[in-house]
Amino acid sequence: MAEIQKGLEGIVALETKIAYIDGIKGILEYRGININEIMKLSYDEVVYLLLHSKLPTESDRTKFINRLRDERVIDEGTINIVRVCNFNIEAMDALRTAVSHLSHCDPDLNDNSLEANLRKGTELVAQFPTIVAAFWRIRNMEEPIPPDKTLSHGANFLYMLRGTKPTALEAKCMESDFILSAEHELNASTFSVRTTASTLSDMHSAIISGLGTLKGVLHGGARLAVLEMLDEIEEPEKAENHVLNLISNKKRVMGFGHRVYKTFDPRGIIFKQITKEIAEDTGDLRWFSIAENIEATVLREFVEKRNKPIYPNVDFYAGVLYKYLKIPPLLSTAVFAIGRISGWVAHCIEQFADNRLIRPRARYAGEHDLPIRFL
Ligand code: CMC
Repeated sequence: MAEIQKGLEGIVALETKIAYIDGIKGILEYRGININEIMKLSYDEVVYLLLHSKLPTESDRTKFINRLRDERVIDEGTINIVRVCNFNIEAMDALRTAVSHLSHCDPDLNDNSLEANLRKGTELVAQFPTIVAAFWRIRNMEEPIPPDKTLSHGANFLYMLRGTKPTALEAKCMESDFILSAEHELNASTFSVRTTASTLSDMHSAIISGLGTLKGVLHGGARLAVLEMLDEIEEPEKAENHVLNLISNKKRVMGFGHRVYKTFDPRGIIFKQITKEIAEDTGDLRWFSIAENIEATVLREFVEKRNKPIYPNVDFYAGVLYKYLKIPPLLSTAVFAIGRISGWVAHCIEQFADNRLIRPRARYAGEHDLPIRFL
């Protein structure tokens, strides 16, 4: 049997045309377009690119954007499911339940044709923000706010959350977060999505697998951990000691390190620029300064002193940005999912187009030929 690669590190499990990563040079592309160029698109256009493998013509673009905006509304049954959720949970848990309910209502639940999956996937992309915002409003004893078709994906989410329209800069930041979170090759949650799809299960089930995997603190849950760390540190002057304490106690600095990137994560660089812009705009540099001090200490302690490639990953400055956008911590992982759903849908479609069951092996490490003995 082959050598075990713990955590499947370095294993190439499949071929994809959705994203390309060079973890040494710090390059990320969506469908062959560098992430720095991708930032010139709207989230809606990125969704089209991921789901349809190409950018739309002008008329397809208009049709697709209108379609996404029409599909933002969720039915009363799903809102009621959100209402009965236990509200000491993260939005992620309610989102998982709501997606399960959405599947019950879908006429094509078990239809895995391209046409059905494009329809289901487009609806899920449109509906994720509505579900997450409804969860937060209901949790706060407020009525959900219906989506506003005149607003972009990012602006509309903030509007449904707060009940007031965001500033142009806040809307741009939210859009950027969704774009930067949209897709990242065979990360753990996308692997879960593809594994479920590979059994010829349905798209909703595959997305639920992805949600469950994204929630973990070593993956999307790191954004919540970053928010908690910022709150704990409170002041820029305390950041360095906080990091030194984590290191001496052999604890991880959340939002740092990556399985693939051994240099700066290109998404993290963009997140940092955006976060700086909004921090300067608000005139409150506290969270950004804490973050810069954390980053400087991690780079000094790991990269310079120990020669270990531990750089800020996508979740670090995303967490800081959420501070400025006033995204409640309990929503942070679900907000990541609002962006990532488009990548998951693209991977589901790619998996169904050329499927083979994903089924690796494990090396047995237990005993053999034991007698039956009740204890
Ligand atoms: N803080 C301190 N030490 C770290 C960190 C960190 N954040 N990340 C890795 N290390 C150390 C680790 O202790 C180990 O040291 P040693 O070789 O002395 O035992 C070495 O670096 C390699 O770590 P690993 O856990 O074997 O590496 P991995 O590729 O399995 O882990 C990771 C990748 C993301 C799980 C890890 O870097 C980590 O736990 N980071 C913190 C959580 C986090 O930010 N997660 C978000 C991941 S990226 C975006 C996403 O998926 O959402």
